[in-house]
Amino acid sequence: MSSTPAPGFGRIAEIDRLSAYRQEDAAAEGEDRFVWDLSNNESALPPLPAVAEAVRQGGLHTARYPDPTAGSLVRALSRHFGIDTRKVLVGPGSAGVLQQLLLSLCGDGDEVIHASPCFDAYPLLIAVAGARCLPVPLTELGDHDLPEILARVTPRTRVVILCSPHNPTGSRLPDTDLRGFLADLPRHVTVVLDEAYIEFDEAKEPRDLNVLRRDPRVVLLRTFSKAYGLAGLRVGYALAAPDILERARKTAIPFSVTRTAELAAIVSLEQQEALAERMAHTRKLRTDLHAALDAEGLSPLPSCGNFIWIPLGSSSESFAAMVQGAGIKVRACPGQGVRISVGSEPAHRHLLEVVRHRAKS
Ligand SMILES: Cc1ncc(COP(=O)(O)O)c(C=O)c1O
Repeated sequence: MSSTPAPGFGRIAEIDRLSAYRQEDAAAEGEDRFVWDLSNNESALPPLPAVAEAVRQGGLHTARYPDPTAGSLVRALSRHFGIDTRKVLVGPGSAGVLQQLLLSLCGDGDEVIHASPCFDAYPLLIAVAGARCLPVPLTELGDHDLPEILARVTPRTRVVILCSPHNPTGSRLPDTDLRGFLADLPRHVTVVLDEAYIEFDEAKEPRDLNVLRRDPRVVLLRTFSKAYGLAGLRVGYALAAPDILERARKTAIPFSVTRTAELAAIVSLEQQEALAERMAHTRKLRTDLHAALDAEGLSPLPSCGNFIWIPLGSSSESFAAMVQGAGIKVRACPGQGVRISVGSEPAHRHLLEVVRHRAKS
């Protein structure tokens, strides 16, 4: 008897249509084809000593379930930002928090609008919530097309996801544009502003929460995965009005934030000086890499994140295959561009050698 599930309808049909998140990336056991992985926008730096010690401490508690509310981290974030604990929700990565939000905000057939291309997980998380995805192409400069997003809003629209710095282009959504957008947006729509990379943006002060104070429809989505370098521990958070988060708490998988992740995040928050140094270092590497790629005629877009987007159109996949053949993994968005994460100096040197060699051959 076949174990293949019967074709589905509605939400199930949508899930059938999509591939699992980066299934195609899974390496065979023991396979390590890449010397440098610049495909995931991870931190290239090792954990800070205090964070490594917190991870060790957390490991001593593995026989016990963690606090299901991640209460110590919620309190630490509330102190860090100077806001009520009811306005803080912690989850297993910001992707996990986004899933909780979508599950709690959308019903079957509701609509979610987002820019395209975007973080690959958005369409999947929207489908899992039973909602319909309405992707709106970015402008040629890699920015959100806010007038077009507004034009796509209907009575079924529950959520608009905006992202700044935007993955994959690195563009910043200026405050004035966001303010104008919110003024024109119908009241029934919640805006999730994905700020996974905000710490890399020199024009932003992550503790400035004015946008939240001005508009209770806005949810700020943040993570410890990128600037804080805790991608492997899975911990992110949302800052928003208490009623939005109260609902989203109910859609969590119980105990999904481990004690280790919670401890490491608390210690990370205390390391603001080290974080500032690391951000300055990453921005310098980004500036240098951008200039070098530009000098090779690749015309990368300016970026506020820890990655650089090269709009290569139909050459995107062949460019990615060429650098991957030389041991550097990057992310290609077929037909649109290639995203390269800011890595280490040796990784950049090697990448630039490969790019220069290609230019000569
Ligand atoms: C824009 C954006 N949002 C969210 C995430 C998810 O991050 P995490 O679940 O590790 O917090 C990513 C990861 O690459 C991302 O690029």
